[in-house]
Amino acid sequence: MLNIGVIGCGYWGPNLVRNFSQIKECNVLWCSDLSDDRLQQIKEIYPRVKTTKNYMEVIEDKNVDAVAIATPVSTHFELAKTALQNNKHVLVEKPLADNSEHAKELIEIAEKNKKIMMVDHTFEYASAINKIKGVLEAGELGKLFTIDMIRVNLGLFQKDINVVWDLAPHDISILLFLLGRMPTSVKADGMAYILENIEDDAHITLKFPDKITTHMHVSWLDPLKIRKTTIVGNKKMLVYDDTEQTEKIKIFDKGVTLEKNNLPKDEYYATWEEFRLVYRRGEAKVPVLDNKEPLNVMCRHFAECIKNNKKPLSDGLSGLRVVQVIEAIQESLRSKGKDVFL
Ligand SMILES: NC(=O)c1ccc[n+]([C@@H]2O[C@H](COP(=O)([O-])OP(=O)(O)OC[C@H]3O[C@@H](n4cnc5c(N)ncnc54)[C@H](O)[C@@H]3O)[C@@H](O)[C@H]2O)c1
Repeated sequence: MLNIGVIGCGYWGPNLVRNFSQIKECNVLWCSDLSDDRLQQIKEIYPRVKTTKNYMEVIEDKNVDAVAIATPVSTHFELAKTALQNNKHVLVEKPLADNSEHAKELIEIAEKNKKIMMVDHTFEYASAINKIKGVLEAGELGKLFTIDMIRVNLGLFQKDINVVWDLAPHDISILLFLLGRMPTSVKADGMAYILENIEDDAHITLKFPDKITTHMHVSWLDPLKIRKTTIVGNKKMLVYDDTEQTEKIKIFDKGVTLEKNNLPKDEYYATWEEFRLVYRRGEAKVPVLDNKEPLNVMCRHFAECIKNNKKPLSDGLSGLRVVQVIEAIQESLRSKGKDVFL
């Protein structure tokens, strides 16, 4: 039995408590939060879970094997470091830390203490994203051109981080997972409308090798909740809408190619007529997906990695790479959209 302490029971932490409680090899022993109300709500649903406002009680409890951290991003480093130094395995919510130096230090401590450290890059555990990875690896879309990602809604404003640190880790981790490499450069443009110096809307361009261009729009200022990714290849195009209940992915046999004109040579008079654009408008395919909750798959993976001393899919290095991309985006944002090379 893996005894787990969850630190941070605001919006997201209770989802970790619920999922770990559903896994028979896991036992949520402790929950910690600074708010009495949050702890009271946990107690009402899980009367056997011990609660405390002092996270050190969780970290110093010899019966606790692993700690899951779902506190504001600016606190991840200190909490994860203390937990690792007290020989706990650690699951940290995305993003791993508030800068890459902190992320590197956490990786070192975890390695030195031989502890599993994993980041909750939830979407890497989603069946839709794994299906898309399979589609890309099978070459079904052909050569990739562009990936366009939109993740917008109204709020939830964070006081310690801007919308890039809050929402973009999801899309960045998805991109790095799907493409298996880092971008070569990023460029970002954003604005702080509501809170001073905390950008609430940003447009980001990430360039990858082989001319793959990706765009992201992240915002806390949109009346609609949109979670949409469009992937365009030279053979087919794919749309992933995470707000759909069942038909999350659609693969369109659509595209456009430039083909040599078959007209006899004397029938065209300008060079451009030597070629013509051919549009393909074929049928759409909707892959069947399982309906497992990605967070549940992630929690099970964490428990399994601890049990079998296995390297997690979203390990410390994967967390570091996401933080490095966010830092580059942040640098571009603050320098009015200059290209930042990675
Ligand atoms: N994986 C996902 O899809 C997902 C979704 C939302 C949020 N998150 C992540 O979860 C984390 C928390 O986000 P949130 O939206 O739940 O924030 P939140 O502000 O709603 O909750 C954070 C909680 O942490 C508590 N806290 C702060 N410092 C503490 C301390 N020292 N000891 C104990 N409790 C402490 C606060 O009292 C608060 O209740 C962030 O890292 C965020 O990026 C992940």
